Amino acid sequence: MTTRHFLKDTDLSPAEQAEVLDLALRMKAAPYSVQPLAAEGAGRKTVAVIFDKTSTRTRVSFSTGVSDMGGTPLIINPGESQIGHKESVEDTAKVLERMVAAIVWRTGAHQGLVDMAANSRVPVVNALCDDYHPCQLLADLLTVKEHKGKLAGLSMAYLGDAANNMANSYLLAGVTAGMHVRIAGPEGYLPAPEIVAEAEDVAAATGGSVLVTVDPAAALEGADVVATDTWVSMGQEAEKAERMQLFRDYSVDAAAMAKAAPDAVFLHCLPAYRGYEVAAEVIDGPQSVVWDEAENRLHAQKALLAWVLHQSGQAVVEGLA
Ligand code: CP
Ligand code: NVA
Repeated sequence: MTTRHFLKDTDLSPAEQAEVLDLALRMKAAPYSVQPLAAEGAGRKTVAVIFDKTSTRTRVSFSTGVSDMGGTPLIINPGESQIGHKESVEDTAKVLERMVAAIVWRTGAHQGLVDMAANSRVPVVNALCDDYHPCQLLADLLTVKEHKGKLAGLSMAYLGDAANNMANSYLLAGVTAGMHVRIAGPEGYLPAPEIVAEAEDVAAATGGSVLVTVDPAAALEGADVVATDTWVSMGQEAEKAERMQLFRDYSVDAAAMAKAAPDAVFLHCLPAYRGYEVAAEVIDGPQSVVWDEAENRLHAQKALLAWVLHQSGQAVVEGLA
């Protein structure tokens, strides 16, 4: 049996992504019904959750989610372990895989996650890196599915820093779900060509599509979902003043929302900066579903962890093949 990792959105096929989202809905309705970490005997109970960057939602949702599923979360905060400064990623993986059921890691370079997974026989899950935030997208898709009843065929617009982890994940996870994903940002801050190419390949198979544009109105026109993210991601603080100027035409305010479908929902992974990437009237207004989205981190990640443990032969989850 092969160990299943979740390092980027397309590590789940379209059918697998749908299965995880369905499991998330089932687990949201019955929070203690799936207990992959409660097994006595051979089953491992602890999940390591390692942070090289700060976090509120990811820390709390993985911590409570692992507890809900009968396990124990081991939270390792920035600077608390040897990883990255005194010990290689490879050696860290070889130690952790002998003790824990899964490794969840928030870090900078995506390559670190690839190296961790290559040296681990237990699942490795990306809890955000510079290039992707795939757990967030599972929560976002779950939220859209709850509010719209479906994903395939919907159009989803993302405005702002279109070269960051959220933009890449909206693109890849959205087309995996068969959505029409439109990404708008200024020249020089658009998704890398290889990510666009991968998204186009996936879209060709799912019936989705990709639009990458510098024109926010083109992305917004009639969109069913409107999303944005901070203009200053973790690690980019020194560029703050420049970024505030760069992205100012991509702010999601009431005028931007008026270009989307009248019943469009607004998403933001949070933390949000009102008056910059989003106006208070939007994030605190009736079309905003950001608090459902934040809660859904818990349900989506529980399902994801249960699914990768099941697929990796470490647990049995009723109803999964
Ligand atoms: N959205 C998100 O990942 O939030 P945190 O940085 O608080 O974990
Ligand atoms: N793009 C943001 C997302 C935070 C959840 C960052 O990387 O800081």
